[in-house]
Amino acid sequence: MKYHFRTNRLSVRLYKKSDFQIWKNSYLQLSDPKNRWDQKLRNAGEFTKQNFNKIIKAQDENIAQDSFIDFIAFDKKEENIIGTVSIMDISRGVFQNAYLGYRIFNPYWRKGYGKELIDKTIDFSFKKLKLHRLEAGIHPQNKRSIALAKSLGLRKEGYSKRRLYLDGQWQDMVLYAITSEERSINHNTGKLRRNRR
Ligand SMILES: CC(C)(COP(=O)(O)OP(=O)(O)OC[C@H]1O[C@@H](n2cnc3c(N)ncnc32)[C@H](O)[C@@H]1OP(=O)(O)O)[C@@H](O)C(=O)NCCC(=O)NCCS
Repeated sequence: MKYHFRTNRLSVRLYKKSDFQIWKNSYLQLSDPKNRWDQKLRNAGEFTKQNFNKIIKAQDENIAQDSFIDFIAFDKKEENIIGTVSIMDISRGVFQNAYLGYRIFNPYWRKGYGKELIDKTIDFSFKKLKLHRLEAGIHPQNKRSIALAKSLGLRKEGYSKRRLYLDGQWQDMVLYAITSEERSINHNTGKLRRNRR
């Protein structure tokens, strides 16, 4: 399968070895985090070829296991990273579910990139990965992310107490979800994919 799709302004794909400089430059050019969910600044020393190769190795293993996909959203010319989106903890069999995690780098906020990226990621997940359900666990105070989820048609499904251990504590999350039927995609349930791992 091709793990590459495009939106109006983005080229969304996996990392290749030749992306080392773009990876390094894009993270080093980030400005200070604008809120607690924003990308934290990292030390320049972390951006080594060795570390980048580890990222690619993990990425390829996760793809081979059909367990986790970390997509990188580049601008059209693939000169800068605009953001990332992950399709996490893919569960096959009777569930056909994954969790969405997303981030737009803060110089590009409020320009519609989040919506553009997640909209096409949902389509890719349902049409290419044949998933049936996508869930996003969002911190109740993360208003921007909640606005984004709602604007894409994700529904609030519930309140999950002490769901994720982040920043040294168990944090509550509001669960938002969408199923393929809500995008008018009906899968052949006689051919549900099985877990590879
Ligand atoms: C949440 C995040 C991905 C939004 O990305 P973005 O590119 O700024 O979002 P968009 O410009 O596509 O906006 C999407 C929708 O959310 C709304 N929105 C975005 N930022 C908003 C804000 N500060 N206040 C109110 N609404 C906001 C927009 O109005 C838009 O809705 P509309 O199309 O119906 O008008 C980005 O702020 C981010 O990466 N934050 C840090 C990481 C994070 O919180 N990730 C999510 C973890 S669950």
